[in-house]
Amino acid sequence: MAATILAIESSCDDTSAAVICDGRVLSNCVSTQEMHRIYGGVVPEVASRAHQVNIIPVVEMALKNAGVNKQDISAVAFTRGPGLLGSLLVGTSFAKAFALSYDIPLIEVNHMQAHVMAHFAEAPFPDFPFLCLTVSGGHTQIIRIDDYLKMEILGETLDDAAGEAFDKAGKMLGLGYPAGAQIDKLAQTGTARFPFPEPAVPGLNFSFSGLKTAILYFLRDQMAQNSNFIEENLADISASIQQTIVTILLKKLRKASRQTGIRTVALAGGVSANSGLREALEKYGGKEGWKTFVPRFEYCTDNAAMIGITGYYKFLRSEFCDQDAAPYARGFTS
Ligand code: KG4
Ligand code: ZN
Repeated sequence: MAATILAIESSCDDTSAAVICDGRVLSNCVSTQEMHRIYGGVVPEVASRAHQVNIIPVVEMALKNAGVNKQDISAVAFTRGPGLLGSLLVGTSFAKAFALSYDIPLIEVNHMQAHVMAHFAEAPFPDFPFLCLTVSGGHTQIIRIDDYLKMEILGETLDDAAGEAFDKAGKMLGLGYPAGAQIDKLAQTGTARFPFPEPAVPGLNFSFSGLKTAILYFLRDQMAQNSNFIEENLADISASIQQTIVTILLKKLRKASRQTGIRTVALAGGVSANSGLREALEKYGGKEGWKTFVPRFEYCTDNAAMIGITGYYKFLRSEFCDQDAAPYARGFTS
């Protein structure tokens, strides 16, 4: 009998549902909450209310697009954490109710593990062991993956995430939220001629809060001399910020690869769309002899397909959870 998983993701500001059959993605629907843009960041209470409004239509659409009936679902996978508690509660409660009413197993999924598992949504799949740099608005981690569900965090950010660094820098430049894609676009016509400091963080951990302060002071000093400094140099400032963030990320990734001897290297998370990061991955990767993997963008940003793929591998091992599984805001392992 086919294993057909209904997957739910609601950890931040995307309500998503997907249907996975025997490890293949049949549908992956995402409703992104655009209303947070006006606040310059995700407002947790607004996000959880929007999840409540969106969850049933998004699930209906995922089932319809997959051509699957509710009665054909073998198990429900849901994001248990980490994320915003109010948002997670909506997906968790929906998944529990669905599993209860159809008397099928419930599978809890860790969101960070799922970002890595997004590499198994579509071939070609990376070989084990591989390293994954997960970079998004909320996460920055280097993970070592030895098997589908066997992973270890080698390094992570001590403060801001890489995407957050792009977004906060964009705010200082007067760009809208989220700013990563805009900085990327501006950087393509600019020259990285303004040097920003790289943090001296030991091991494989990251820090981006110092860069944020350096950008703030740099802009303040330049604006004191020329009030049009930002608008006259927007492309060059963007290129400089992007190059600094990308260099910080790639240097740690290279260190992780040399330390572990692992040369299969993957990217995950929304920031993996960044053209500078992709170019640098190819450039550094070419020199280091890496085999690189970057999933399609829809599997890089928050989506339920990655939850369903993780759920499928857990289903094969009968790793189910109880109805009393409560969401958690932080943590990698469940
Ligand atoms: O994975 P994601 O959609 O959501 C989570 O944060 O989990 O990632 C969103 C982040 C935002 O910080 C956004 O600015 C960044 O990804 N981003 C980019 C690009 N596209 C999205 N950052 C740099 N360059 C891009 N092209
Ligand atoms: Zn995420």
